[in-house]
Amino acid sequence: MTNKYKYFVANWKMFGETKNIKSISRVIELSKLRKFSKAKIVYCPPYTLLYEFVKKLKKTKIEVGAQDCHEANTNGPFTGSINSKMIKNLGCKYVIIGHSENRISGDTNELINKKIKISLSNNLKILFCLGENFKEKKNNKTKRILASQINKGLKNIKNIENVIISYEPVWSIGSGIVPKHNELKNNILFIKKILNKKSKLKNIKVLYGGSVNPKNVKDLSKIPQIDGFLIGGASQNINKFIDIIKKTFN
Ligand code: PGA
Repeated sequence: MTNKYKYFVANWKMFGETKNIKSISRVIELSKLRKFSKAKIVYCPPYTLLYEFVKKLKKTKIEVGAQDCHEANTNGPFTGSINSKMIKNLGCKYVIIGHSENRISGDTNELINKKIKISLSNNLKILFCLGENFKEKKNNKTKRILASQINKGLKNIKNIENVIISYEPVWSIGSGIVPKHNELKNNILFIKKILNKKSKLKNIKVLYGGSVNPKNVKDLSKIPQIDGFLIGGASQNINKFIDIIKKTFN
């Protein structure tokens, strides 16, 4: 049982059609219950569904975010891209930046830094993803990688009040494997320590992402330093997503 606010970010990745939106009515009902009043639910569907989600969730406590954005602040000849101004204009509150799937396809720390700056200037909250890959973990480089991703990604950003970190070890995403309790706790504490040095803010949120499911969420919730979860695969299944929220508060 927890009394703290907990985030549940549903990252639908490149999944979902308009017909899937109906099912989220059940999450809306759940979010109205007193028992789950501390659940902060954010849906991040693909761009194609953002507007439908914003409409559907308008009068609810559930918020909507995009999964990425272009680093430009103005319109321009960038085929296939969407900037943070457009995302904000649509009624979204959040944007995921730095997801490892985008880092793998070319997002550097420098580009991520630009995207974060621009998105903050457009009053979006940032879900800033970071984490080590398997090789880095094996070579004991996790802390070095995390520090570098934070320092470069948040370079020259003074106000990090609207930045929420999502710690996502790359080897854990979609693999069914989650870090051991102590390893996870230490890494979350390490991230919080760096952020506390960077900013006077005491209350910086750090989420965990990577193979979160109804079976492991209870154990993961026992780490009090985790402020919530970024959920990929399991968030696309309505029963699993609801179960994850329920089990966190039971
Ligand atoms: P997963 O994805 O829950 O499917 O492991 C998490 C993520 O990529 O954010």
